[in-house]
Amino acid sequence: MSKKIFSGVQPTGNLHLGNYLGAIKNFVDLNNDIQNECIFCVVDLHAITVKQDKDQLSNNILETAATFIASGIDPTKSIIFNQSKVHAHAEGSWILSCLAPMGWLNRMTQFKEKAGKDKEKASVGLYIYPILMASDILLYDATHVPVGEDQKQHLELTRDIAQKFNKDFNCDDFLKAPEPLIKKNFARIMSLKDGLKKMSKSDPSDLSRINLTDTKDEIINKIKKAKTDSYPIPDEEKKLIDRPEAQNLLSIYSSISSQTLDKTLVEFGGKKFSEFKNQLAEILSSKISPISEEIKKLINDQEYLNKVLAEGASKAEDIAGKKIKEMKKIIGF
Ligand code: AMP
Ligand code: TRP
Repeated sequence: MSKKIFSGVQPTGNLHLGNYLGAIKNFVDLNNDIQNECIFCVVDLHAITVKQDKDQLSNNILETAATFIASGIDPTKSIIFNQSKVHAHAEGSWILSCLAPMGWLNRMTQFKEKAGKDKEKASVGLYIYPILMASDILLYDATHVPVGEDQKQHLELTRDIAQKFNKDFNCDDFLKAPEPLIKKNFARIMSLKDGLKKMSKSDPSDLSRINLTDTKDEIINKIKKAKTDSYPIPDEEKKLIDRPEAQNLLSIYSSISSQTLDKTLVEFGGKKFSEFKNQLAEILSSKISPISEEIKKLINDQEYLNKVLAEGASKAEDIAGKKIKEMKKIIGF
């Protein structure tokens, strides 16, 4: 059955292995299935929920688009665009924010994490960020949304908002509740320095993550320095309990080689980490450095990137523009 895919990535710089394995690698697989209609959005309106530097923001928008293309998303098959170019996203977000109860938003754990201790100082935008995300998805009647584990709660909220709109305005199946596509075992890639912390662009230590722009030598060095424990590699998944760093590195290996964790454990069970790390560094650099080189090449061709984004925005506008018009009619505007 054909799927309508929508997903977004924030242009906040330092895209890393977690973004790649948790999200972008799946975008590529979905793009490659000819039955799917895919839309991949650089969510720049989400990025400004925290303060951004103007020049860095515009560079990061292009770099995120370049990363999509360098990873293997074909812009002649999938729509690639940036959110701020299509008015309907912000307009839809306002409409949906008028029906989503505050109680639902108060449960969002990402807001609590990002706002930190002093919630009073966080922007209102950061608080209603999940509603903008719901608007993104619902405007395109997306059936499936590929994301990492951290976005699961936002997708549940999206489904609730869709159902509430349909009920409040008595319009049955007008907004489509989407299904999340979250890869078991690989949807939460952890820091290379602490297996209990998510790999993140905001971690002050660059050694905690593999950036998609890292060179081969940087990747090898980071894997060499990655935290492990002093036991050999187990041969069964249940023996990974309470060994978060081992679990993380073995999951990374499995995901990047597109094989199950079980198969990796059969391959390396009983061996030392030093041997495993050599192979992990080898496969990571063979998969990531070509992407990194292609990103660098594309970044120098801004004319091409701007053209891809403009064409994508025009196609996205056709779809979202129609949906928002119908939405406004249903409301009574
Ligand atoms: P963001 O950069 O926050 O816009 O995230 C883009 C996508 O990458 C989302 O689908 C996230 O769920 C995913 N993602 C971010 N960090 C990780 C991680 N450490 N492990 C797995 N997926 C991640
Ligand atoms: N909130 C997502 C993140 O931080 C990014 C995002 C915005 C998104 N709109 C979306 C993801 C729509 C999927 C679908 O990772």
